[in-house]
Amino acid sequence: MSKNQKFARTLVTCALPYANGPVHIGHLAGVYVPADIYVRYLRMRGEDVLFICGSDEHGVPITIKARAEGCTPQDIVDRYHKIIKDSFTGLGINFDIYSRTSSEIHHKTSSDFFRKLWEEGKFITQESEQYYDPEAKTFLADRYITGKCPRCGHEGAYGDQCEHCGSTLSPEELIDPHSKLSGATPIKKKTSHWYLPLNDYEQWLNCWILDGHKEWRSTVYGQCKSWLVGGLQPRAVSRDLDWGVPVPVPGAEGKVLYVWFDAPIGYISNTKELLPYSWEKWWKSDDTRLIHFIGKDNIVFHCIVFPSMLKAHGGYVLPDNVPANEFLNLEGDKISTSRNWAVWAHEYLKDFPGKADVMRYVLTANAPETKDNDFSWKEFQTRNNSELVAIFGNFVNRAIVLTHKYFEGKVPPRGVLTEADKAVLAEVPEIRRSLEENLEGFRFRDALKDAMALARLGNKYISDSEPWKTAKEDMGRTGTILNVCLQLCADLAIAFEPFTPAAAERLRGMLKVGLAAGFDHRAGEQQTENTYKEGEAVALHTVPEGKASEGTLKWDTLGSTEILPEGWEIAPAELLFEKIEDAAIDAQLERLARIKAENEAAAKAQLAKQVEPQKAPVSFDDFGRMDIRTATVLEAERVPKTDKLLKLTIDTGIDRRVIVSGIAEYYSPEDMLGKQICILANLEPRTIRGIESKGMILMAKQGDGSMRFITPQEAVANGAVIG
Ligand code: 2FM
Ligand code: ZN
Repeated sequence: MSKNQKFARTLVTCALPYANGPVHIGHLAGVYVPADIYVRYLRMRGEDVLFICGSDEHGVPITIKARAEGCTPQDIVDRYHKIIKDSFTGLGINFDIYSRTSSEIHHKTSSDFFRKLWEEGKFITQESEQYYDPEAKTFLADRYITGKCPRCGHEGAYGDQCEHCGSTLSPEELIDPHSKLSGATPIKKKTSHWYLPLNDYEQWLNCWILDGHKEWRSTVYGQCKSWLVGGLQPRAVSRDLDWGVPVPVPGAEGKVLYVWFDAPIGYISNTKELLPYSWEKWWKSDDTRLIHFIGKDNIVFHCIVFPSMLKAHGGYVLPDNVPANEFLNLEGDKISTSRNWAVWAHEYLKDFPGKADVMRYVLTANAPETKDNDFSWKEFQTRNNSELVAIFGNFVNRAIVLTHKYFEGKVPPRGVLTEADKAVLAEVPEIRRSLEENLEGFRFRDALKDAMALARLGNKYISDSEPWKTAKEDMGRTGTILNVCLQLCADLAIAFEPFTPAAAERLRGMLKVGLAAGFDHRAGEQQTENTYKEGEAVALHTVPEGKASEGTLKWDTLGSTEILPEGWEIAPAELLFEKIEDAAIDAQLERLARIKAENEAAAKAQLAKQVEPQKAPVSFDDFGRMDIRTATVLEAERVPKTDKLLKLTIDTGIDRRVIVSGIAEYYSPEDMLGKQICILANLEPRTIRGIESKGMILMAKQGDGSMRFITPQEAVANGAVIG
């Protein structure tokens, strides 16, 4: 048993990803890989654990995407639910159930939850003014309102955020707001909604979190504290929308549950779907330990809002821990779905077939547990080639190949152990202790370092003891060394199961051992409701302590000195990991460079469209004093030792004169030769770099600072007056 002995079972949930796009490495590193590591570890310990997830299929972004693509929201969620589910399967993330919030059971569960709170008077209703589209005759969520950003001038800012400059906005701040549905200017209209008065739960939350959960990660605890210190306000739990779970009470036409009200109830619905007869054991027993794996943007919902909902409802367990991760960046830049700045899980699996473990390994080695971290493809390659291949894979390969070479593929007998052998074997339980402590403390980066320490130990041991040399004169000694090496291989097949499960399975295949399975929770569910007995999980295998005599390993076997008995036959070596060549990495870097260039071009085009505000009025006389005329460039040359200046000799129709102009960034001397331009002829002469400049060329300056000269649409006489 691990140290959580006061609990009979552990219920692990992962944030339900929105089904409006695929998942990327930021999601994987932040939530799903660490959760899967934890669950695999608990399963190997023989603990009763349930792992729940599913798609979050409601919310405004899904309806916006559907509208943009001319399909239904259901089409969108069907598409992404499949992509996301397949990505998790491909990455070895083994949920007991991956369901969806558009399911019937979820609609019923979340409706019932809402209705109970409503019946018990746990909500308040409040009227507020919301934006309304008078043409489409519907209220508008903030995302449905666009306009010009008041901070950066970006034209497509949303009512809640400008994705161009990152500012958080309210619809009131947008310049020239209009509805995304009809283009109409939205008006304010009164609407009524249900609110959960979070302020009523503040005192309880203070006790429960601030006094009771000081062990939570400091980033999580700190965020909760700042919410609580800031004071909580009632939170709306319904929306005027036509996609979601309809509000199940009278007078709620056209209203659905707010997505953040129904989504966390999805954890309960999905458990119910998996275990229709025994789900309550998981959610309503004090000896269940509930752990939510989430990203840092979900902390307030999982630590404050959902627990308040559960408390208001009564009867449910509360989270015992919420190990939220920080964010992962990509090649030094924030991951962004709208800018396509991401490594998408389903694309990775296509580009790197059979290498799910490598991504799991790299994302864990660099997990953003205490601060934001960066993913880079070069580091990905180095960690694969220099760690997985050169240390873990290399050790296992040498041990197994040599066993076949010298001992016909059978575990050789162990002779007298040297001090060095004993020291190596004695180190394994030490590593195991640290590994367990780190896994149980949700420090998966450190835990992975421990697992790698085991691989390093083996790799160093085989290099130092040189069984290929001892084989020349002392086969007994060679057998002892390889026996120790094979025990270490078995240890690695256990220690790496949470981190790189496919490689661990391949290794167990080479060692011809299996893994003791955990509980089959569905076993009881096959019976009818009447015959099902509460709490009857079925243990599939039992393994004798410390031995693989039945061909199965479990966590408790790790570190026992003779896991594989003498004479145990093993299979031929196969590669655990393959080297990743530069070409594969270069292809990824080129893809990112292409995306960066596209994003920069789009940003520049957007910037170019920005218009400066109009200047203060001038009188007609003011304007009349300016002598603006046409002229033709006769000679053009760069002003020496400058980047920006051209010296132009022009024919103004009045005279031939020189103008020095700062346009060399945009035009070469050749570009200007013979061109007809417009000039301010009576600008006071100025001496620039020793050259007297008489007048100024009129230029059109765009929002991005770039300039174009003004030319008459058809050639006109030089000296023609413009006005
Ligand atoms: O942030 C997100 O991706 C949300 N869809 C997470 C929901 S978690 C839970 F509450 F369902
Ligand atoms: Zn902006």
